[in-house]
Amino acid sequence: MKNYLTDSREKLSSLRSLNDFYILSFESSCDETAVAVTKGREIVSNIISSQIEIHKRFGGVVPEIASRNHALQIDHLTREALDAAGIELKDVSAVAVTYGAGLLGALLVGVSYAKALAYAADLPLIAVNHIKGHVAANFISAPELEPPFIALLASGGHTYILSVKSMSDMEILGATLDDAVGEAFDKAARVLGLPYPGGPEIERAAKGGKPVYKLPRALKGEKRLDFSFSGLKTALINTVHGMRQRGEEFSPADVACSFQTEAVGVLVDNTAEAVRRTGIKTVALAGGVGANTLLRETLSARGEKEGFKVLLPPKKLCTDNAAMIGVAAYEMIREGVSPAPLSLDADPSLEL
Ligand code: KG4
Ligand code: ZN
Repeated sequence: MKNYLTDSREKLSSLRSLNDFYILSFESSCDETAVAVTKGREIVSNIISSQIEIHKRFGGVVPEIASRNHALQIDHLTREALDAAGIELKDVSAVAVTYGAGLLGALLVGVSYAKALAYAADLPLIAVNHIKGHVAANFISAPELEPPFIALLASGGHTYILSVKSMSDMEILGATLDDAVGEAFDKAARVLGLPYPGGPEIERAAKGGKPVYKLPRALKGEKRLDFSFSGLKTALINTVHGMRQRGEEFSPADVACSFQTEAVGVLVDNTAEAVRRTGIKTVALAGGVGANTLLRETLSARGEKEGFKVLLPPKKLCTDNAAMIGVAAYEMIREGVSPAPLSLDADPSLEL
């Protein structure tokens, strides 16, 4: 039997100084089955099959249904990604896969498929942390970007302000103590009777609304740059329930706008404070909530006012995709990462 891991190590070390090789990457941590081909920091193909329509009727992602749909989709999406890139599997030099954080069953589909493919095709496998993948999306849209930089990572599962020194060294300057900001958007939408996923729905509903409801800010004046979105969500629920109980008429647009304004406000204020404290003058936005227009505009305006550069990946690269996983793997190879063994397991609560 071949020694897969020794071979992989040799292959990765010969790739380390190159930038024109293809990586085939997989992302299946939640409700998007995604396969991409990347070359250095460039996207060659980026296929995303969203299951949103399937989960919508349940009001959120049903883990078992997500896993099954990943299993149904992943093989033909791989064919599609290779075809769209105009290459064959034999042209690929490495395989990359998200192994956490995310839904266990969903992750296992991607991990198992990527392991089988890597072994069968004699390719080294890179295990990528989903959160780091989101950060790496910025290398695609800003290929000149080099650390150090600050990353504001705002997704459905995580909310972090990071000082990024390399792929293996990301210092947490601030984190949520409870709900992630995307989760808070999803719950706020539910209170207003809007469908899943709530982020884009709140954004749409907020159009034409005014931030008339004053929602409290948790952890104000704290030394750390942490967040608490559970308090914001509860304040919103109490405001809406109170008005309903009193039989008061209210404008859902005003409620959505008030929530969005406060959520964006605390993200941008803490990020600007991170810039002041570290003196690092580049901020990269990442994660699904990074697709929010108010967040993008408010962060850019703050950067202009306070003299820091703001990088905004296109919206399609903020939400889950496999290209960001491929580019994260490329950066990790440059930094001398070890290949993943065939015993690689999924880790639903993987931290940074
Ligand atoms: O990064 P992502 O695609 O998946 C995770 O890693 O969680 O983020 C999904 C989250 C969901 O909570 C969704 O409601 C939110 O990102 N989101 C948005 C917008 N688009 C997606 N939140 C606010 N405004 C948006 N336009
Ligand atoms: Zn994500």
